[in-house]
Amino acid sequence: MAKNNDVVMSVRNLSKIFKSGILNPEYTVAAKDVSFDIEKGKIISLIGESGSGKTTVGKLILKLINVSEGEIIYKGKNISEITDKAETKKYYRRVQGIFQDPFATFNPLYRVDRVFDMIFDSFDLGFKDKDKAIRDALYDVNLNPDRTLGKFPHQLSGGQLQRLLIARALLMDVDVLIADELISMLDASTRIGVLNLLVESCKKHGMAVIFITHDLNLGYYISDKSLIMYKGRLVERGDTKKIYENATHPYTQMLFEAVPEIGDRWDPEEEFLPEQVVNDVQKFYKENEGKGFVEIEEDHGVLFSDK
Ligand SMILES: Nc1ncnc2c1ncn2[C@@H]1O[C@H](COP(=O)(O)OP(=O)(O)OP(=O)(O)O)[C@@H](O)[C@H]1O
Ligand SMILES: [Mg+2]
Repeated sequence: MAKNNDVVMSVRNLSKIFKSGILNPEYTVAAKDVSFDIEKGKIISLIGESGSGKTTVGKLILKLINVSEGEIIYKGKNISEITDKAETKKYYRRVQGIFQDPFATFNPLYRVDRVFDMIFDSFDLGFKDKDKAIRDALYDVNLNPDRTLGKFPHQLSGGQLQRLLIARALLMDVDVLIADELISMLDASTRIGVLNLLVESCKKHGMAVIFITHDLNLGYYISDKSLIMYKGRLVERGDTKKIYENATHPYTQMLFEAVPEIGDRWDPEEEFLPEQVVNDVQKFYKENEGKGFVEIEEDHGVLFSDK
């Protein structure tokens, strides 16, 4: 894990167990023993199949759900201990999330400017000229303020609304932005624009981003660090390039094999069986029983066994 002073947040042995039902409660282990550091100005991809626990980790960081076990340390403090209103507000001043569907974030009855009014009303952002600050932030995300402000959400595209939300995060000068499937609803050309913008903003403003995605290629394109999740466990963690060059956990290896290459045609003979992955992972854990999570090289760790 990172040793430098640039760590803004540390996630330590984080677990979340959901309980549903009252008479016959069912327990879902959505995340188990997840540890990683978030560094200033760095993009971390959180990659894994549907149901692997990615959004759960994002929600825990955003304090939208309670931690079952473990800690999230921000500025030396366990965020579970942040309970009073003023302190919670202070936390959200610096830690924000953008979710998959930008339309859901905007109230269709109000002009989009409202998302800016809300943050200026809630927080002292330290700008002398509010209107200029908003216009500058919009230019930063390649939106023309004259064509954006005053519009209703339905008059803008999904990509424009997401850029508006990135502009808002920039205005707030957040430390950590959780981007959950941020661009999955955008077309390919808009995607690259939004991604590049995110990377630039990180470098320029020192904002750290957790970029949650299913897409391995996007993860590689955008991130400095990667976290691979499988069934609630963090199975591989570290420098993106190292993981991609030396994928070691069987689930990570399967992810790479499953990426179709341009020019490849679909082969009806080729079988992909999820049970195969489950078996491979179990075999791998059994062969390595007792090893646990091991740093196999600098800034590259692998879960060799779950016991
Ligand atoms: N509120 C909840 N109550 C009970 N179980 C939940 C709840 N939220 C999530 N889960 C379960 O926790 C597991 C992890 O869910 P999570 O939403 O974190 O997955 P994900 O990796 O974000 O998946 P996707 O890629 O589909 O968004 C799933 O098995 C899910 O059914
Ligand atoms: Mg999710």
